[in-house]
Amino acid sequence: MGKEELLGLFEVLGALLGDSSWAQEHPQPCDETPWPGVQCEIGDENPPMFHVTKIHIGPDPACKSSATLSESLLKLPYLKTLSIFNCFLTSPVTLSPTLLGALSSLEHLALVSNPALSGELPPSLAKISNLRVLSLSQNNLLGKIPGNIGGMVSLEQLDLSYNNLSGQIPVEIGGLRTLSILDLSWNVLEGQVPGSVGQLQLIQKIDLSSNRFTGSMPPDTGKLNKLVLLDLSHNLINGPIPETLSGLEQLQYLVADNNPINTEIPQFVGKLMKLKSLSFSGCGLTGPLPNSLSSLKNLTALSLDNNSLTGTVPPDLGTLPSLNQLNLSNNQLSGDLSLPEEFIERLGKRLDVRGNNGLCTSNPLYKKKSISTNLITPLCLNASGPRDGKTLAGEHPNESDRMKPCSQYPVQKSSGSSWSYELNSCSFVVCFLYLML
Ligand SMILES: *[C@@H]1O[C@H](CO)[C@@H](O)[C@H](O)[C@H]1NC(C)=O
Ligand SMILES: *[C@@H]1O[C@H](CO)[C@@H](O)[C@H](O)[C@H]1NC(C)=O
Ligand SMILES: *[C@@H]1O[C@H](CO)[C@@H](O)[C@H](O)[C@H]1NC(C)=O
Ligand SMILES: *[C@@H]1O[C@H](CO)[C@@H](O)[C@H](O)[C@H]1NC(C)=O
Ligand SMILES: *[C@@H]1O[C@H](CO)[C@@H](O)[C@H](O)[C@H]1NC(C)=O
Ligand SMILES: *[C@@H]1O[C@H](CO)[C@@H](O)[C@H](O)[C@H]1NC(C)=O
Repeated sequence: MGKEELLGLFEVLGALLGDSSWAQEHPQPCDETPWPGVQCEIGDENPPMFHVTKIHIGPDPACKSSATLSESLLKLPYLKTLSIFNCFLTSPVTLSPTLLGALSSLEHLALVSNPALSGELPPSLAKISNLRVLSLSQNNLLGKIPGNIGGMVSLEQLDLSYNNLSGQIPVEIGGLRTLSILDLSWNVLEGQVPGSVGQLQLIQKIDLSSNRFTGSMPPDTGKLNKLVLLDLSHNLINGPIPETLSGLEQLQYLVADNNPINTEIPQFVGKLMKLKSLSFSGCGLTGPLPNSLSSLKNLTALSLDNNSLTGTVPPDLGTLPSLNQLNLSNNQLSGDLSLPEEFIERLGKRLDVRGNNGLCTSNPLYKKKSISTNLITPLCLNASGPRDGKTLAGEHPNESDRMKPCSQYPVQKSSGSSWSYELNSCSFVVCFLYLML
């Protein structure tokens, strides 16, 4: 390694590491006295020489409390990877615009989990034109995402998650034509997701969760035909979700929990044949469970809890071979819950239908099993099986449960309590009213 480069490496590591004797102990870090955090490659000059191509620091060995990024990085013109984890912990460090802009050989920059790394993202970042991976997750960065980031034509992964970035996603993001992973989760980003995300032709994963995005999803999102994961959860995104999203033909994970979508379950979900996980908890969804859900043969998890869904539970849901988690709790579903017994046994507690006051079951087989309490459902009034007042989970409903409207509960009671008398007279009144009509 050339003298200038070696000196540069000593200066860079000296500015980071607590161990001040590093240079003495590793006078030839590429060959005779190697160190796991530094990698070198042989250049193609004559005679061949080593060059530093990778520096990886933290969490072990520890950085010093006054650790900084030295300008001497500029003396390492062959550096391709710089990764610093859990290093800048107390004394504030910012991303120097001049330093970053000059690291033109970098392909992989990961400064992750550095609570004292604060300040804004300098627009000069975009000058690192060979950068393929930019991960600045779990720092304390704030301010806006600079628009010229869209000029990073080699970028494959952009992870800015767990910071305090604000403002909107710049429209220019559509310029990242080689991007496969975009993670902006856990920031305070706002506004509408720009339609230009539809230009990210190679994107496979988009995580925008836990921000303050508003408005509806742009229809062009449906053009992302390589997208495998879309996480929009914990935002303020409203419906309707555009039907064009039926074009997401590779989509396996669609997560939109806790958004004020407030529409019916979008029809297009039944066309996403690769879906493994569909989660729309707490989205204000109304209307019925579409039968088309039963065509999603690869579905393993379906979460539609905490909505206002009405109508019955399609029995075909219980025939989905891979479905292993079904949460329909806290809705207004009603009618006969007649899922196959095999399905109920397979899911156990992972089948949750609690908090649907209108649900009942007419399958007398259920009650002899000691099934999950997440399934407590009364026998339907018209049930043909033996009527002993037991619920689906084989447990007696307690007094407060019995206070619910009489029409959901069995007519006959095993005990001669006053409750059974009231239930009987209540259903009698219901029948009587029917006769009157
Ligand atoms: C994030 O930024 C907001 C203002 O933009 C500020 O009030 C808040 O304290 C910041 N949070 C952190 C963890 O820095
Ligand atoms: C369902 O999963 C299986 C096994 O992973 C896979 O072979 C099949 O192609 C998937 N079906 C669809 C429609 O993607
Ligand atoms: C239910 O959803 C609402 C938003 O619709 C949310 O505020 C609330 O925390 C959710 N409740 C539970 C138990 O998840
Ligand atoms: C179903 O969702 C509710 C929130 O609506 C949650 O409290 C419950 O734990 C979930 N059930 C299961 C089995 O995960
Ligand atoms: C009871 O009524 C429900 C809803 O009307 C119906 O789907 C179910 O088939 C009936 N069960 C029996 C045993 O008649
Ligand atoms: C009875 O129901 C109430 C509310 O539904 C619940 O808090 C309580 O734990 C239940 N008691 C038993 C013995 O299940």
